[in-house]
Parts: sequence; C-alpha cells; structure tokens
Amino acid sequence: MTEYGQDLAGQVALITGAGQGIGRTFANGFARAGAKVAIVELNEAKANAVAAEIVSEFGDGAAIAIVADVADPDAVEAAVAQTLSAFGRIDICINNAAIFSTLKMRSFEEIPYEEWRDVMRVNVDGVMLVTKACAPVMRRNRHGRIINISSGVVTLGRPYYLHYVASKAAVVGMTRAMARELGTDGITVNALLPGATFTEIERETVTPEQKTQILNMQCIKRHETADDLLAAALYLASKGGEFVTGQSIAVDGGTTFR
Ligand SMILES: NC(=O)c1ccc[n+]([C@@H]2O[C@H](COP(=O)([O-])OP(=O)(O)OC[C@H]3O[C@@H](n4cnc5c(N)ncnc54)[C@H](O)[C@@H]3O)[C@@H](O)[C@H]2O)c1
Repeated sequence: MTEYGQDLAGQVALITGAGQGIGRTFANGFARAGAKVAIVELNEAKANAVAAEIVSEFGDGAAIAIVADVADPDAVEAAVAQTLSAFGRIDICINNAAIFSTLKMRSFEEIPYEEWRDVMRVNVDGVMLVTKACAPVMRRNRHGRIINISSGVVTLGRPYYLHYVASKAAVVGMTRAMARELGTDGITVNALLPGATFTEIERETVTPEQKTQILNMQCIKRHETADDLLAAALYLASKGGEFVTGQSIAVDGGTTFR
C-alpha cells in the first residue's frame, strides 16, 4: 500500500526508461504499492541500480532489470518474454522511455534530420512497439492499464524542440486510438502530460530564469516532482481508474488546461 492508498499486490508493471528520473520514481512507487516491476531500460548500469534499489527494500523477485531499446522490435518482444518468464503476467505498462533530457534546444530548421528520426523512433515507435507486445498478454487476462507519458509541451506548443513536441503529440493521438481498440478487452489507455518536472538529472535546457517563468505559469506555486506523476499513474493503474480511458491528463500544477 502506498502513501496514495493504492494496493497493487499480485500485479506486474513493465516500466520503460526506468533507469533514472521519472521512470525510476515510477518503478520504486509501483513496488511500494506491491507490484512486481520490470525495468526496461537502454542503460544497463542504471537499470541494474534501480532494480537493486527495489530488491534491497522489497526483497528478491520484487524487480528485474531488462536491457532493451524500446525502438527495437526484437528487443521489445524479448523484454516482454523475459517479464513473463519472471513474473507470469503483465497488468500495467508505462511507456515512459523517451529521448528527452539529452536534447539540445534549437530552432527546428537546425535540428539534424538524423536526430529528428531518432526522437521519432524512440518516442513514437517505442510506445507503439511496447504496447503492441504487451497487448496480447493483457487481452488474454482481459485486464490491462497502459499509461503513456506525453508532455505539456503539446498543449503549450513549446518552441525549440519540434521533434520532441511532434513525438509527444503523436503519443496523445495513439492513446486515444489505442483506447478505442483495446477497451473491449478491459484495457485502459491514458496519457499523462507532465509539466516541467525536476528530477535528479540536471538539464541544461532549463535556465534559472526559465525555472521562475515555469512557476509563474503554474496555479500551484511549487516545482513539480516525479511523485506528482507517480500519484496520477497509481490512480490510473488502480481499481478506481478502471472507467477512465483515452484521456490526456495534465499533471502540471495548472500550467495548461485542455
Ligand atoms: N522531466 C520533465 O520535465 C518532463 C516533462 C514532460 C514529459 N516528460 C516525459 O517523462 C518521461 C521521463 O522523463 P525524465 O525526465 O525522467 O527523462 P530522462 O531523460 O531523465 O530519462 C529517460 C530514460 O529513458 C531511457 N531511454 C532513452 N531511450 C531509450 C530507449 N530507446 N529504450 C529504453 N530506454 C530508453 C534513458 O536511458 C533514461 O533512463 C519522458 O517520456 C519525458 O519525455 C518529462
């Protein structure tokens, strides 16, 4: 049981990009709620470190680290197979991995096409591939919760990383269409749209002046943390979230209204 009241004992959550930042908070938070966690992450050392963090607190078998690129169809299939062989089921899939904190801000005319393609491959194809691999398992159980991490930049139209904005807008569209395709099998699909969220990872893209500007735009005058997103994700994964699907939920202290 977590501080937010959810009990996910007996459930399994596959969380992508959980080696650091928001994904790491999701992994720890879902483990606290009683779920077994599969950390699907490109960075092996970070994946292992988060799994070790969870195992040291919740015991052997509470989490596994799986090294995979979410944009590689074979690696994704293998990651789902590995999760099933370890835990036997997948109830919750959080599509959190993205090319994000490493991006440079620059006008769209200056974004190298190669970088544009990489962002689309990971942020868009990755969400489709991981969801496609998890869907048959969830359909069989007639139960599933897909939580896609989009971004408030879609609503704001934030300039200087057009590939990222385009990729996160695609996530909103996919969330709606997937919700319609999967609803008949008891699977919900929702997107969270975080505002500027501060994690242990420093980002050059946010200057001190921008940090002040961000607070000025929020109704609630404190910086967003990954725990704010965790609370929303736990709600969507819980029994109470079963009738909410296809939604794009802004968790940003009231920066944007959809
Ligand atoms: N932090 C924010 O302000 C903010 C705001 C809005 C949306 N988001 C979104 O929230 C999510 C998490 O953000 P964050 O701040 O923790 O980002 P982050 O950049 O710190 O972490 C991303 C994680 O994804 C992993 N990853 C990247 N490419 C991968 C791939 N191909 N396969 C598997 N793993 C891969 C990275 O190794 C890293 O561990 C992202 O989807 C991001 O776009 C973040």
